[in-house]
Amino acid sequence: MDGDLARTHDLGEAYARERDAADPLADFADRFHLPDELYLDGNSLGPVSDAVEQHVDAMLSAWREYGIRGWTESDPPWFTYGESLGDDLAPLLGAAGEECIVTGTTTVNIHTLIGTFLDTLDADDDRGVLVNELDFPTDHYAIRAQLRQRGLDPDEHLHLVESRDGRTIATEDVVAAMDERDVGIVFMPSVLFRSGQLLDVEAITEAAHERDVLAGFDLAHSVGVVPHELSAHGVDFAVWCSYKYLNAGPGAVAGLYVNERHFGTTPALAGWWGHEKETQFDLNLTFTPAEDAGAWQISAAPMLSTAPLAGSLELVHEAGIDRIRENSLELTSYLMTLVDERLAERGCTVGTPREPERRGGHVAIEHPDAYRLSQALRDRGAIVDFREPNVIRVCPAPLYVGFREVRAFVDLLADLIDERVYEAYDTERGDVT
Ligand SMILES: Cc1ncc(COP(=O)(O)O)c(C=O)c1O
Repeated sequence: MDGDLARTHDLGEAYARERDAADPLADFADRFHLPDELYLDGNSLGPVSDAVEQHVDAMLSAWREYGIRGWTESDPPWFTYGESLGDDLAPLLGAAGEECIVTGTTTVNIHTLIGTFLDTLDADDDRGVLVNELDFPTDHYAIRAQLRQRGLDPDEHLHLVESRDGRTIATEDVVAAMDERDVGIVFMPSVLFRSGQLLDVEAITEAAHERDVLAGFDLAHSVGVVPHELSAHGVDFAVWCSYKYLNAGPGAVAGLYVNERHFGTTPALAGWWGHEKETQFDLNLTFTPAEDAGAWQISAAPMLSTAPLAGSLELVHEAGIDRIRENSLELTSYLMTLVDERLAERGCTVGTPREPERRGGHVAIEHPDAYRLSQALRDRGAIVDFREPNVIRVCPAPLYVGFREVRAFVDLLADLIDERVYEAYDTERGDVT
């Protein structure tokens, strides 16, 4: 299905319409409220859906009706909402319900899990954490802080795998770094935020375990668009956000996974919400952590930023994660083929790996004037984002983007380049792109 199949077809408007007509997910788009004609930024922030609105309305009604009693009397009770949504999410992660909890934010969850697993290394073991130089920076900020708090100099104990091409990270280099450096934990993204490369979670985990190294992952750019098999692969821990492909809203509650073999490990950042549920309201001053991933919760669940996730998960399950992935690969394949055919001669390059097993849900289009082009695109209703130094990230999220939108986007970008429209824009960077 992938790669150069599309080249054997006429790729025009009729082709796009035909593909959309045959797309079993096509009707889902009507259930989203898209703020712009071509909303191609779901890898940063997914749009609101009817299902999300309903769940937020229901949460407000429950708050109005129950007040404080909502923690126990609401359906489902707020007291265990993080646990019940963890159960709902677990199939997307390939995990057991008890291994997943909906809680906190991605960065705070990195703090607590990296801290927790650094603490499991022997007291005289000063092995560090292996990351890569193309990571999203918050991961490094959090890990450095956790190393510092354990008296470990981050400059010596945060080890960086280098990229060979500035776009991707080779699995062999991750493995070699585990042999060459003093590593206790490898922490990698599933999908690199800039190029969209999908890393080999299974191979990295296996290599880590062969070396007595723990393996954790940041799934921010894959949850909801790429199926995972965390338990089957024996991953030790993982974190993710809910505002990208899970469409749960800006700053929505995040989630984490802890493999069941680590249940009982003391959380680095303890809080009362991670207490064993049965006795939490005894309010003992001694912390007795829950016996599952719930132990890594810290504070009371933020119900209004958690409710949207219940709605968006309904849609994801209805569509099916395997179908979403299949559709995503078809859309990104079509996009890359159009870039090759229409935009390469206009100075654009695909910076995302071509192989289906090596790419996530978005495509990096590189162009020397990427920043100004991204601004010009946005002003014309094509919402994409820019990442330094030269990347336009384009995300055909399968639940609300079809082949026609991909086609229209490429047409628009070709026109903007031909007419040099972007030259009217300032090269100075704005605040949020
Ligand atoms: C890989 C990755 N991790 C973490 C984050 C953000 O963390 P937080 O949800 O804590 O703001 C992002 C944001 O885009 C990201 O791309």
